[in-house]
Amino acid sequence: MTDRDGASRGTFAEFTPAAAHDYDAWFDRPWGAHAWAVELAAVDDALPDRPDQTVVEVGCGTGRLIAHLTKRAATVVGVDSSPAMLAVATGRAPGRLVCADGRRLPFPDGVADVAITIATLEFADAAAVLEEMARITRPGGRIIALTLNPVSPWGLLDRPTRRAPFSTAAFLTRSELRRLGSRHGRARLAGRLFTSAQPGLRRLEPIATVVGAGVPWFGAVQVLVVDRPIRRCGRDLVRFSRPGNTAVG
Ligand SMILES: C[S@@+](CC[C@H](N)C(=O)[O-])C[C@H]1O[C@@H](n2cnc3c(N)ncnc32)[C@H](O)[C@@H]1O
Repeated sequence: MTDRDGASRGTFAEFTPAAAHDYDAWFDRPWGAHAWAVELAAVDDALPDRPDQTVVEVGCGTGRLIAHLTKRAATVVGVDSSPAMLAVATGRAPGRLVCADGRRLPFPDGVADVAITIATLEFADAAAVLEEMARITRPGGRIIALTLNPVSPWGLLDRPTRRAPFSTAAFLTRSELRRLGSRHGRARLAGRLFTSAQPGLRRLEPIATVVGAGVPWFGAVQVLVVDRPIRRCGRDLVRFSRPGNTAVG
């Protein structure tokens, strides 16, 4: 979490073009690059392997994930409410961006195979954004939400120096995130980002991810994956990955 806030710049809605560029530049610094690599790996792990899929990212910010997702999906759309952030994103993902509020997505029901959000639920009405993500995700589709963990060692260390907009963020605890996710399907929660950016430690992240599964609250990033139910015969059915578990009744 450290330094993602940078200088005090008000809320994201108040961001100027300079503040958006400043935010984006954080990802090119050692800790930002490390955190982003870990977040991308978490998304890659959670994203179904279906090249024909449609993915919507809510709170796409400066478009780094959108640019990456185009390698994993046929249709990718990024939504953000900040024109300044979207102006930076345009350089990475032209033609794939929509300026809108994540609480009122301008898409029909069930249009997406996957809806993703990173570090955005903390700045919006998390329940309302997840509700909208669920609405636009087709039955049997998936919601992936990464949030910053306020009670991880990194989150606690970062707290005294946090500045706007991160100082006013409504960070979600693991139980809050799980509870919100469970409203929309089968929810599972994991921790990621256990190491720091120092080259020696950074290289241990894959091992730390395995070991960290036992202490997920230690991870600076929380990864929520929600499998949307399949509706059939008036009952909600969750599709399990093993063939023997596929939809009953
Ligand atoms: C911390 S940034 C994260 C951006 C990007 N996902 C990333 O990881 O760099 C939070 C983003 O959420 C956007 N945001 C905040 N509230 C929003 C809302 N209600 N609807 C859409 N986007 C929102 C902000 O404009 C900002 O771009």
